Amino acid sequence: MAEFDTIIIGAGPGGYVAAIRAAQLGQKVAVVEGRETLGGTCLNVGCIPSKALLHATHLLHETHENFEKMGLMGANPTVDWAKMQAYKADVVQGNTKGIEFLFKKNKVTWLKGWATIPVPGQVKVGEETHSAKNIVIATGSEASSRPGVEIDEQTVVTSTGALTLAKPPKSMVVIGAGVIGLEMGSVYARLGTQVTVVEYLDAITPGMDAEVAKTFQRILTKQGLKFVLGAAVQSVKKTKTGATVSYKLKKNDSEATLDADIVLVATGRKPYTQGLGLEALGVEMGPRGTVKTDAHFATNIPGLYAIGDAIAGPMLAHKAEDEGMAVAEILSGKHGHVNYGVIPGVIYTTPEVASVGKTEEQLKEEGRAYKVGKFPFMGNARAKAVFQAEGFVKLIADKETDRILGCHIIGPAAGDLIHEVCVAMEFGASAQDLALTCHAHPTYSEAVREAALACGDGAIHA
Ligand code: NAI
Repeated sequence: MAEFDTIIIGAGPGGYVAAIRAAQLGQKVAVVEGRETLGGTCLNVGCIPSKALLHATHLLHETHENFEKMGLMGANPTVDWAKMQAYKADVVQGNTKGIEFLFKKNKVTWLKGWATIPVPGQVKVGEETHSAKNIVIATGSEASSRPGVEIDEQTVVTSTGALTLAKPPKSMVVIGAGVIGLEMGSVYARLGTQVTVVEYLDAITPGMDAEVAKTFQRILTKQGLKFVLGAAVQSVKKTKTGATVSYKLKKNDSEATLDADIVLVATGRKPYTQGLGLEALGVEMGPRGTVKTDAHFATNIPGLYAIGDAIAGPMLAHKAEDEGMAVAEILSGKHGHVNYGVIPGVIYTTPEVASVGKTEEQLKEEGRAYKVGKFPFMGNARAKAVFQAEGFVKLIADKETDRILGCHIIGPAAGDLIHEVCVAMEFGASAQDLALTCHAHPTYSEAVREAALACGDGAIHA
């Protein structure tokens, strides 16, 4: 029986980061992963391959929309789907191999196979049993479907199937206007697919700043996506040529159907913890299938910890990574900590959408006094030069103290811009701190500074 200080189950962003950090801090670490490659959902069938397709199709869209405006004539690329898939696979492989290299560099053992926990302190992989002082569950999540909707990953697909369709379909119905639905819907709309998004709520991207959501929907509609809001999908039935989606409109209970070649089910994900033996161990579970943990990621079983999508909180790779680092530090006698108030969220469409901290809607509900500084990218020279002047930065600060409470951006490179606000929030900065910081010209980040200026005496270019 091999003995380890820590065994981590799952090599996604939570698990592999926890392993590397624990090894760096002097622990003998193993990671159990049954997939052929490391990196979990994110690297293999999630964040990374979708970004490759988003990048390729964004460039395609640019050639059609903007090249001639810039005097670049005659560009009319056609899509070689097999080549685009191969490019995507290369990107994935480069990253998964990178994790393998990091494991070797940090002397992390990869136990290949699927783990069970027969008793506390032991992990079984295949026929072998290994012991560890600590075990960390980092098994992530899986797509959650609806009753009446059967996934076959060919015609009725989750994000996994949507990344490897045989060819771009003529039509696609996307169920759910969340992150996956809008990112993958954008990819296929740019490839010429007629995309209709059916969403239960009355707005897209639930939980997001309402003004951003409205602008986002308007821009996506201009890009060719159709939306049916306030519609609860009842069932999906396969047909000879595709599938029929039946939904009920909430406002009048009327029923309607939509036919499409492909149906993408993007109605959320659920923790993936089956098969580990948690029930037999008596592990306490939380709501929606999550493993219940305390502030130090400990379950009710001594020596058993859990992080990432398997526990409460937003299902985001970077949240899992932060928890991975924190749990490794805690298990090494240090003080790991995650600031849940400053976890950014990004949607990688064009334009990108990013947010951190509180929305106006949340602050109203909390009855907190706040002020808003808003700046449109129309006033940003750099954004105008690249045809991305739609959208805005909205910075929210405490009315009395000027402390930054949140930021919501829709516009070019929003997913990168948000991080200067994250850093500012980590340091407890005021809007004025950002406003007084010199920002290079011409950059998109000037829009963030202008929003901060708008929280005070006013933006210059608006
Ligand atoms: P989501 O929770 O973001 O959105 C699901 C949507 O489906 C909601 O708007 C919900 O109202 C709607 N819905 C649920 N049932 C419905 C029904 N019967 N009919 C119509 N609409 C219905 O879930 P999504 O997009 O599947 O993403 C799963 C997780 O993966 C999320 O936690 C997300 O944050 C994460 N993710 C993050 C990415 C990023 O950070 N860029 C990219 C992809 C996924």
